[in-house]
Amino acid sequence: MSPLRIAVAGAGVIGRTHIEAMSSSLRQDGHPCRLCAIVDPGDGARALAGRHGVPHHADIEALLSSGEPPDGVIVATPNATHAPIAIACIGRGIPVLVEKPIADTVEAARRLTGAAERAGVPLLVGHHRRHNPILRMAREVIGRGDLGALVTATILYTFLKPDGYFDAAWRREEGGGPILINLIHEIDTLRFLCGDIESLQAASSNRTRGFAVEDTAAVLLRLRGGALATVSLSDAAATPWSWDMTTGESPQFARQHVPTHFFSGTHGSLTVPTLELWRYEGGRGWLDPFTRTALPLTPGNPYALQLAHFARVIRGEEAPVAGGADATETLRATLAVKEAAATGRPVRLLDA
Ligand SMILES: NC(=O)c1ccc[n+]([C@@H]2O[C@H](COP(=O)([O-])OP(=O)(O)OC[C@H]3O[C@@H](n4cnc5c(N)ncnc54)[C@H](O)[C@@H]3O)[C@@H](O)[C@H]2O)c1
Repeated sequence: MSPLRIAVAGAGVIGRTHIEAMSSSLRQDGHPCRLCAIVDPGDGARALAGRHGVPHHADIEALLSSGEPPDGVIVATPNATHAPIAIACIGRGIPVLVEKPIADTVEAARRLTGAAERAGVPLLVGHHRRHNPILRMAREVIGRGDLGALVTATILYTFLKPDGYFDAAWRREEGGGPILINLIHEIDTLRFLCGDIESLQAASSNRTRGFAVEDTAAVLLRLRGGALATVSLSDAAATPWSWDMTTGESPQFARQHVPTHFFSGTHGSLTVPTLELWRYEGGRGWLDPFTRTALPLTPGNPYALQLAHFARVIRGEEAPVAGGADATETLRATLAVKEAAATGRPVRLLDA
């Protein structure tokens, strides 16, 4: 099978991760993709394209009118440009993998989702954690009912961003904080593992860093089916309790082997990413012996697995694991956290 030709729009931090995943895919994957063009007006993109031996374009229209349409486009540009760039590709019948969040507003997300559905062109959203074997295993355990009925989920997402991170002014202003940048991953994780969010409440604080934007938040969520979940979020707390530091997903983080997610059911409980399953084997009560089982896992790079999935989506072999409507719900819930924290009132996401 010849490699699919994939263009990357936005060759920044995550765009380069996709380009690297593509180079690995060519070397080792059964569904290989090949970088065929880079679209990015920024300094360095032309040189990067030169190093990869592919054409460089300053904007998406230049790529689309180049006479060499790609088989797929990865959109890894700033949030507000996701919808217009992806819609332009879909208008030419080209499948897209759009980075998270699907768009900067729910309206734009719905516009993009509608355009893809009407055109019948595949749209995959880059909620890459869904491709991580750790989350796949946790989803299987919870979905199979190994924990019984889900009672609570507790998620810690607390970490210390270095001071230099805030040199860019937008990171100190509204929209640049951990709710919109980081929490969306946990909201999507919760939805992927445990199902829809019925309603949520939240409080946020900027007390530690003193910037206009929040540095810390606490979120309380009621899930469809009745389980309650909490998320502690901070970019100003010196802890190892974050997905990034504990999963080994990104090599730049010094890895710590501690759990950050705790799922509790009527018959057992599960830690993530450590994947320890706790169950009563005999009597079922706090005086009875508890067994701890380490679940076996073959690790995998979620960006490479996501790319392989994108290839199968393009070939029509699989439906997107994170489609437009699904990713729009994740965005809607994340924006609802902002609203709940600002108003002090609960926000309902599912109709009563
Ligand atoms: N899934 C993940 O793990 C993950 C991680 C980081 C970022 N992201 C998402 O990826 C997106 C990009 O984030 P980043 O950290 O790589 O940003 P970045 O600033 O490092 O890179 C963005 C790039 O897009 C280019 N660009 C801007 N406007 C463009 C346009 N109209 N057409 C083409 N290129 C354009 C910029 O020149 C820049 O090179 C964001 O939506 C972010 O939320 C996802």
